[in-house]
Formats: sequence, structure tokens, C-alpha cells
Amino acid sequence: MQYDVILPAAGSGKRMAAGHNKLFLELRNKPILIHTLEVFQQDEACRGIWLAVKPDEKAYIQTLLEKYHITKVKAMPNGGEERQHSVVACVKQIEDGQIVLVHDAARPFITIPIIHELVEAAEKKGAAIAGVKAKDTMKVVENGKIKGTVDRSSLWMIQTPQAFDFTLLKKAEQQAETDNFLGTDEAMLVERLGQSVYIVESSYENVKITTKEDLIFGDAILSQRIGG
Ligand code: CTP
Ligand code: MG
Repeated sequence: MQYDVILPAAGSGKRMAAGHNKLFLELRNKPILIHTLEVFQQDEACRGIWLAVKPDEKAYIQTLLEKYHITKVKAMPNGGEERQHSVVACVKQIEDGQIVLVHDAARPFITIPIIHELVEAAEKKGAAIAGVKAKDTMKVVENGKIKGTVDRSSLWMIQTPQAFDFTLLKKAEQQAETDNFLGTDEAMLVERLGQSVYIVESSYENVKITTKEDLIFGDAILSQRIGG
């Protein structure tokens, strides 16, 4: 059960408004990017890491990889305008593979057991993504007025990792490129091929560090996991 992982890290962190890539912000004296990389570095089932980066951040990231002994990064292609383009840049560099995961570099709290569940599900079914059940009541709103209440039992909030048979992911990306289709996650690209995508129940701790409040939450998660 081996896999490769693509980590898009070429965003600019506009909603965090840190003045630089939010992935360089530290939690417990360690950059968010390194927290994420360490999970895959430690997982023996992970063969290699493909990291999409901004060209002008590559040299700095290289120094971080050395400092924190991250040895599994196989390539650092230039990211693109949108997240999807950054993922495509990595897929193009992977020569062979069976199972490939796509995981936001901005989700440092993913755990190895969830990763392995996703890999197993993708091996059996071709495509599996992490998600958690919606907690709040969900309503459709138009022009400030409630149009209706959606049945929450069928609603899931989708995260990464998203795990795929490599051939399927490549095909989905090629089709999206041909159709000029931009999705918000990789599963969307696979869904539009008519291929079933399955869910693996993940954890509410697997947040994407997006705004300032997420740093407080992230610090609390680390306190609970490692003490202090
Ligand atoms: N990402 C990327 N290439 C892009 C945009 C995003 O590789 N063109 C990466 C980010 O670095 C992040 C992940 O995709 O690890 C999820 O994106 P998001 O949380 O939206 O990060 P940013 O795009 O950096 O943040 P914002 O949308 O607030 O600018
Ligand atoms: Mg973004």
C-alpha cells in the first residue's frame, strides 16, 4: 500500500493577510508547511512528495527542507494561477504511480490512519476523498431571504487528502484542460467523467489554515496532541 502525494503550496494566503505565503507562519516554532510535510515524511507508505511552489519561494523552501530533514520531496514544480494548475504541474512530473493523493499544504493536522484509509479506499474503488458531516443546519438563501432548509443528513464538508488511481486522475485533469473547466477540488474533475468518488470520514481537526482564527485553533490542537 504505497502512494505518492501532491502538496499544492503555491498560494499567496490572501485571506490570512500575513504579507507573505501563510504556509511560512509558525505553529509551535515550526512553519505550517513543515508540519504538513512531516506527516508524509514519517509515513512509510509514502514513496514521494511532489510540492508545487512559487518560483521565488523555491530557494527558501529548499532551506527549510534541509533544516527539518525532509528528504522525500521528489520535485518542486512551479505552481500556477489557480490551485488546480498547481496540482496539474505536479501530476505532469510523476512518471508512474498507482495511488496518488492530493493534499493541501495548508492542512497540517492530517493523521496517518486517515491517509491509509483513503489509500485503501482508492485502491479498491478508484477515488476517495476525506470529509466530515455538516454540523450546522443548512439553508438556501437568496437575496437575504430563506428559500428552504436542506436535509443535513446528506451533506458533507469536503477536505483533503483526495486519493485517486493515478491513471484516473490524469485522465480527469486532461479532460478538464480540454474543456477549460476549473474545479474547486480534484474530485469534481473525476465526478464529471461519470466516475464514482467515495467518502472517508475524516476529523474536524483536519482544518485548512485559512484565516487568523485558524491559527488559534491550530495551536490548541497541537497543545492537546503534544502538551504545553
Ligand atoms: N495553492 C496552490 N496554488 C495556487 C493556489 C493555492 O498551490 N495557485 C495551495 C495553497 O498554497 C494551499 C492550498 O492550495 O496549500 C489550498 O489553498 P488556500 O487555502 O486557498 O490557500 P491560498 O490560496 O494561499 O489562500 P487564499 O485563497 O486566502 O489566497
Ligand atoms: Mg486560495
